[in-house]
Amino acid sequence: MLAVIGGSGLSQLANLDISHREVVRTPYGDPSGPVTLGRICGEPVAFLARHGYGHTIPPHEVNYRANLWALQKLGAQRIVSVASVGSIRPDLKPGDVVIPHQIIDYTWGRKSTFHEGPDGKVTHIDFTEPYDADLRRQLMDAAASAGVPVSDSSVYAATQGPRLETAAEIDRYERDGADVVGMTGMPEAALARELGVPYAAINLVVNYAAGRADSRHGIKFEAIESVLQESMSHVRSIIGELVMR
Ligand code: HPA
Repeated sequence: MLAVIGGSGLSQLANLDISHREVVRTPYGDPSGPVTLGRICGEPVAFLARHGYGHTIPPHEVNYRANLWALQKLGAQRIVSVASVGSIRPDLKPGDVVIPHQIIDYTWGRKSTFHEGPDGKVTHIDFTEPYDADLRRQLMDAAASAGVPVSDSSVYAATQGPRLETAAEIDRYERDGADVVGMTGMPEAALARELGVPYAAINLVVNYAAGRADSRHGIKFEAIESVLQESMSHVRSIIGELVMR
């Protein structure tokens, strides 16, 4: 089964033929909400809104462990994360779709491992390639079939939020090698790896990052809203193609 974690602008999958919703209890507390189960083109799909169905949970308060554990419990064999990002690079414009290949983690204070507590064994995962290569390939093939151009190599900077960045922070992330910036990519990707579930991300660029291009004098939230409204359909089409792969 494919599972989709939807971020801002994707609190439901319009093309999902819903069968039921499931409240999953986990050893890590409550997920962001009940998981919606159903089919797209006859194929089983699970959907979870990362920020809750009423968009009430900020990035640093998302219970990433409960979300991933719940999806695996329900039988997720691959997990696609959908999240909006700011662009650090001039050639990645609002409305563009990115399938990132690397991550730099600037988050702090989040519960970022399943392996802790008195009974936990010290466990290290290999995270050289943070996203699953096969699933990334499937996403790129799905995007090609859907006729959506995607950028297939971008470094994702995961920031703590919920505030946006300063211009100097964005300059620093660029020097570090980041191309896009978002608040929810970590620890989600690492937790999926700990569970052994293939995980990859689709990022929708919704603004230029702080201090860049038309965000030179500040970020315009109304503009972000309209990009989400106009361009999330591209992400939906990619998912529609992905379920059949
Ligand atoms: N910064 C961090 N997260 C984001 C941004 C941004 O500019 N845009 C969308 N998510």
